[in-house]
Amino acid sequence: MSELNERTKTSSGFYVTKEAPIKTDNPVPTPKASPPDILRCAYMELIVTDLAKSRNFYVDVLGLTVTEEDDSVIYLRSIEEFIHHNLVLRKGPIAGVAAFSYRVRSAEELDKAVAFYTELGCRVERLKDGFTKGIGDSVRVEDPLGFPIEFFYETEHVERLAWRYDLYTPGALVRLDHFNQVTPDVPRAVKFMQDLGFRVTEDIQDEDGIVYAAWIRRKSTVHDTALTGGDGPRMHHVAFATHEKHNILAICDKLGSLRMSDHIERGPGRHGVSNAFYLYLRDPDGHRVEIYTQDYYTGDPDNPVVTWDVHDNQRRDWWGTPVVPSWYTEASVVMDLDGNPQPVVARTDASEMAVTIGADGFSYTREGEEMPEYKLGNQL
Ligand SMILES: [Fe+2]
Repeated sequence: MSELNERTKTSSGFYVTKEAPIKTDNPVPTPKASPPDILRCAYMELIVTDLAKSRNFYVDVLGLTVTEEDDSVIYLRSIEEFIHHNLVLRKGPIAGVAAFSYRVRSAEELDKAVAFYTELGCRVERLKDGFTKGIGDSVRVEDPLGFPIEFFYETEHVERLAWRYDLYTPGALVRLDHFNQVTPDVPRAVKFMQDLGFRVTEDIQDEDGIVYAAWIRRKSTVHDTALTGGDGPRMHHVAFATHEKHNILAICDKLGSLRMSDHIERGPGRHGVSNAFYLYLRDPDGHRVEIYTQDYYTGDPDNPVVTWDVHDNQRRDWWGTPVVPSWYTEASVVMDLDGNPQPVVARTDASEMAVTIGADGFSYTREGEEMPEYKLGNQL
């Protein structure tokens, strides 16, 4: 039997190892307290500046279901969800992210969350009645990476509309799939999230071991969140899943017909990382939303970790479609627990955009083969 402890090149062009090959020389201390048992990413709370415009985008165009709403906040869920919401749109003066919220296995896990983050010296707040409607006892923290993170178990159950095909749109969003966070020091962030119980499924590195991004999971998919190298803390995107690829194409067609194609930032396409089919949209405040489908099962304890070469032109798009610069550089600010934007720290390691597009010609389709400086069809 072959051992996967060594880095093994696959026939698809990426590498696999048994353990995540990421090391940090600048770790957040590992707490003695056990981390809470996290089930999955559950919802994001977004601050939006124009509630009517955001409602039009998320409800009328993308078809999310309104669980509850009033003049200042809208609670939305995907069609297969049974908890109160997957997305909160709260009206505020500055667009940003108020919470990345995870569901934990039981109410007792909240005590563990308090102990874990308190030991790290983080700001921790607990509200027995929850920070939002439909959610009970909750803990919110400003984590060591600067992100506002929430944990909860208690939630109001609402009807799972999966059987209501009369409500399905051609582009129905069926589940919340993942978050994506921008952070300057990816190995430091990975180590901290591993201490919190996450496992790495994929990453992007270069020949010097610089890590550009990593995908980490609790549920048995490729990720619950991704850590993307860049100036941070910022929120890169929140992703909803559709059942099939054609649902994503239907969303593109609908946006075209509504003369809203300017909301499409990147895609549709097939990712290399995660193998998923994707589309990136920007909402009326510029918050990025990914529509995502058909990644793979990762739940076995010896699930192979995939590592991509940053110079592999198929890592971000399997068809080699170039990544647009705004996708690398733009992201949403995140708020502290008082609702003020967190200061952004610049990344000091090399940027993925700088080493893979432009005049450097570093990207390849076939490793070891001399490639033209630009992909066919490149536009300056
Ligand atoms: Fe994503």
